[in-house]
Amino acid sequence: MADLAISLAGLELRNPILSASGTFGHGLEMQHIVAPSAVGGLVSKTVTREPRAGNPMPRICETEAGFLNSIGLENRGIEAYLTDTLPEVAGADTVILTNIGGRSAEDFGELAAMLDERDEVDGLEINLSCPNVQGGRLPYSTDPAVAEDVVRRVRSATTKPIFAKLSPNVTRIADIAVAVECGGADGITAVNTILGMSVDWRTGRPGLNTVMGGFSGVSLKPIALRCAWECVRAVQIPVIGCGGIGTADDVLEFLVVGCAAVQIGTASFGDPGLLGRLPAELSERLDAAGIAAARDVIGSLEVAARTREVPGGST
Ligand code: SIN
Repeated sequence: MADLAISLAGLELRNPILSASGTFGHGLEMQHIVAPSAVGGLVSKTVTREPRAGNPMPRICETEAGFLNSIGLENRGIEAYLTDTLPEVAGADTVILTNIGGRSAEDFGELAAMLDERDEVDGLEINLSCPNVQGGRLPYSTDPAVAEDVVRRVRSATTKPIFAKLSPNVTRIADIAVAVECGGADGITAVNTILGMSVDWRTGRPGLNTVMGGFSGVSLKPIALRCAWECVRAVQIPVIGCGGIGTADDVLEFLVVGCAAVQIGTASFGDPGLLGRLPAELSERLDAAGIAAARDVIGSLEVAARTREVPGGST
């Protein structure tokens, strides 16, 4: 059987497959379907300083090509997470990343400080990229200076590994990747959802109460793959691929472009057991190809020399 173990910013994962924030509860809600020990890691739903009720309904909407959401970071807040959720997570036999979201740059630093002393948490994912708050204006992940400032505040508040989750809703994601690396991020998650909307022409109503929301699902994959590759080429820190991943072949595509790990999001809604099966399917693919270890695939993309030389790499 192929060796699936990978190292990720100092964390040792038994395989490169993690849940994506917001698609798997805080992780253990799903343990009757997917054993935590089956996956490389679990990423929590975004935790904020104060409890949030989220956006008004409807806040989920299917389209012909994927899924729109505008949850609005519903969660019970950091106090409940520290008191109720983390003790439950304590026995989880996998890597736990807590995803944090702030209303302000200061919030991010405070959240990181509050989580820093908790042994249940192996690392933090910084949600710079939720499109469903502040009217989709994405203040943190579209401005390199702002993104760097947020990461720097988190960096100074914790010694745990920190991963910055970036948005595809930018012109040059590499600039944001470089900024968060400068701010002290240990890794990058690329990417969150892309802004979209749907409308029913008969009723004249939008599919989401907030009109715009985050689009995800298999149609996001080519965009996410491109974003991940642009990040990989721009920084030295590891990149976790995320967006439209639903099969072992998808996982391998992201490893080939240079991702050290991947997150599975929307695919889990249609197939909640998928995360638990993917590692074995990944092993099968590698065995069939005669590849001994998943890490041997990472960064093996072959590109023409001309493409490698073009800054921005868009030709
Ligand atoms: C949400 O809660 O609105 C989605 C979270 C995200 O996209 O970051």
